Order: sequence, then structure tokens, then C-alpha cells
Amino acid sequence: MPSIPSFPPAFRWGVSTAAYQIEGAVDADGRGPSIWDTFSHVPGVVANGDTGDVACDHYHLWRDDIALMRNLGVSDYRFSISWPRVRPLGKGPVNRAGLAFYDRLVDGLLEAGVRPYVTVYHWDLPQALQDAGGWPQRSTAEHFGDYAAAVAEVLGDRVQDWATLNEPLCSAWLGHLEGVLAPGLKDLGDAVRASYHLLLGHGLAAQALRSHAALKPNVGLVVNLTPCEPATDDDSDAARRADGHNNRWWLDPVHGRGFPADMLEVYGVDLPERVGDSDTIATPLDHLGVNYYFRQIIQDAPELPAPSYRVVPVPGAPTTSMDWEVHPDGLEQLLMRLHHEYAPASLLITENGSAYDDQVAEDGTVHDPDRVAYLERHLEAAASAVRRGAPLHGYFAWSLMDNFEWNFGYDKRFGLVHVDYKTQQRTIKASGHRYAQLIAAHRRATAPSA
Ligand code: IFM
Repeated sequence: MPSIPSFPPAFRWGVSTAAYQIEGAVDADGRGPSIWDTFSHVPGVVANGDTGDVACDHYHLWRDDIALMRNLGVSDYRFSISWPRVRPLGKGPVNRAGLAFYDRLVDGLLEAGVRPYVTVYHWDLPQALQDAGGWPQRSTAEHFGDYAAAVAEVLGDRVQDWATLNEPLCSAWLGHLEGVLAPGLKDLGDAVRASYHLLLGHGLAAQALRSHAALKPNVGLVVNLTPCEPATDDDSDAARRADGHNNRWWLDPVHGRGFPADMLEVYGVDLPERVGDSDTIATPLDHLGVNYYFRQIIQDAPELPAPSYRVVPVPGAPTTSMDWEVHPDGLEQLLMRLHHEYAPASLLITENGSAYDDQVAEDGTVHDPDRVAYLERHLEAAASAVRRGAPLHGYFAWSLMDNFEWNFGYDKRFGLVHVDYKTQQRTIKASGHRYAQLIAAHRRATAPSA
């Protein structure tokens, strides 16, 4: 059995989920429609015609899901709030019944000894705001700040850990440039304006959380980051553009460096800037949340529209069922780069995980050795970064349980817990048991008397 990676005593062991991916109950208690309700119901956009209408029915089964967390022994649970449950039209009156769900959930977590970590936005923009122009419009950022304030007023007496946005890159580039995620647009100008207003909204929400939460909040932004390596020496400019597109576009402005000049030139789109915005976007963070899944090998592709590169596979490299390369060294490299180049006060790995084609065996168990190895190797990489001085304070596995994997529907299973979508039966996979073992071993090794 591989050695147990060692982390400091207060290291946080979590699992992550997101509202639309697990909750279901899309019409319950006054929830309004989101862009994902609309998008997932467009024929042909999601594999198998899957939608999040029922998902894991977590809205009703949340007590069972907290019991699963207790079985795993996690200290923290990262989940997102559904904006259209709280404000069905995105603005205007708060829907108390919708917010009450999160009230119950937070109380349940605290009773179970699990620390809640709230992501205010994980991609489910209220459809009414999309109809008014969505993230390419400045008003969406302002409404987002107001919504964050409303959530902080109710949950901020018990929740300390917050992220404003999850993966703004995906909302902007995948939702407005590549069109594979909601709202399904393909326009560089809209995508750049969306990226700008997402980061402005992040800053406004960070300020709103600080002024409306009763407990002093620990505020972060969750970004998905990808080491980008040139395929050959001739591809180094393309790899720099890919790094700008994936990483620097998001990291530089929130660390007070403004949007990268080289990428402004690559996109050729004017930013909708106003005086004071850059300070709002650079509102100091208490932590940076890092979602890491893979690296990218980059090849120049001048025939493609900006940013004019393509991602090429690594011959013979192990991949998950998403065709994502398994590359734990990339995680260590990324954490060290963040530490040296951006010096965040604190880092959390807010997502890391793998999809594989899991099967339930006849005896009811789920044997997922590839995910076990993925988990162990990425934790080793994280521990190595800690030894080298990175201020990493926690790891959240993606995901607690199998769920609605966006445009891939339910085919891609990322959970430590298997979900049978017909019966809603949950089964802890071998990887979940391994995670529990690692957490318990860490606790034993770092207990005061040890
Ligand atoms: O399922 C997603 C999650 O919503 C955001 N980060 C990546 C995960 C796996 O694709």
C-alpha cells in the first residue's frame, strides 16, 4: 500500500458539489429557471438528452448525503447556492423558501461536525438575467453583488468560508466562446465582456460578503487552472497564449496586475472598463481556490480564430473517461507557480478528481482502482508542494457523488460515491473508502498525543 502523504495537522479534507449538478427539484418552493434549465432542455446539447431536473435529488436527500460525509470522515463540504432558488428572477425579492433549504443544510452540516464552504455562483444564472443580456452586461455583475449580500445576511452567521464564483473561465469561454456550456453562445466579444463582468461581479460579491456576513468571512475565488506546455520549440508563443487564455487572464486582474496586455491584443476586444473597476476586481482575497484536472500540450494553429492554438494529446499517456490526461506533477507545478508568482495568502485545492466508467459489482461494491490511484497520486503531489513551502491548507475531492456532468450528462461519473439514478441509491466506492482511510490516518498521525 502506498505511503500516507503527510500534511499539517489543521489540513482540511473536503468534498465538493454544485447545486445544479445534484439538487434536482427544479420547480420546488418557488425556484425560478436558470440558464442550465433552458440549455439542458435544448435537444441535442447534452448527451442522452439528460437534464438536471432530478439529478441526485439532493434537495430531498440532503440528510442522507450528510450521513455519507460523516462516513467518509470529511471535515469540510463545498457546495453552491442556486441563485434562482434565492432570487427566482435574479433580482428583486428574496425567495425565503428557497434560501431556507440552505439554512437547513448548513445547520445539518454543523450538527454533523462538517464545516460548510459556500460557492455563491456555480454557473446557474437566473434565466431572466440571461434574457436581459447575461454576463456580457454590467448589470449582471451588480445583481450578483446584491444576491451575494442576501445570501450572506442569512447564512453569514454560521458560514465562514466562501467562494464568489466557480471557474469563471468556463462561464466565459465555454459558455460564450465555444458554446458547449450554457448559455451556448459563440462570440469572442461577448465572451470577453462576460469574463470582465464575471470578475467585476466577483469583486462586488467579495465586498458584499465582507459587509453583510456576521462572522468574519474567509473569502476566495475558485479558478480552474491548467499548465500549458508547448508541443515543440516552435509552439512556445502559442503555449504563452494558451497560458494567458487559461490562467493569466483570471489570475492577473484579481492580483492587482490588470488584464494581461498580450491577451488584450490577441482578443482585440475593448474592455467595458469604468473608473474604479480594477480595484474592485482586485479586492484582496483570503484564499485562492484551485481546481486542477489536467495539463495541456499546445500546438500553434494560426488558421483558428483567437487565441489560435490547439490542444494535442500526449501519446500513450493515461487518461480518464473524459480523455483528460492523468498528470499529478502538473498539480505540484501549478501550486508552486502560484506560490512564487502570485503569493496568495492561502491556497485550497477546491476540486480535483476523475471520471471513470464505474460498474456496481454483483456483491454491490464499486471497485474503482484507477480513481484510487488518481486520488493518491494527486495527494502526493499536493503534499510535495506543501513540503516545498506552498501555503496549501486543504483538499476537496470532486466530487462527493456522481452527478450531472453538464454537457456530458450522467455518463461521466466523478463521485467517491456511486449514484444509481433510477433508485437514488448511494454506494461508497473503493475510492471513497480509501479517502476515508487517508483522512483517518492523517488524524491519527497528527493527533496531539501522537
Ligand atoms: O463537474 C465539473 C464542475 O462543475 C466544475 N469543475 C470541473 C468538474 C468536472 O468537469
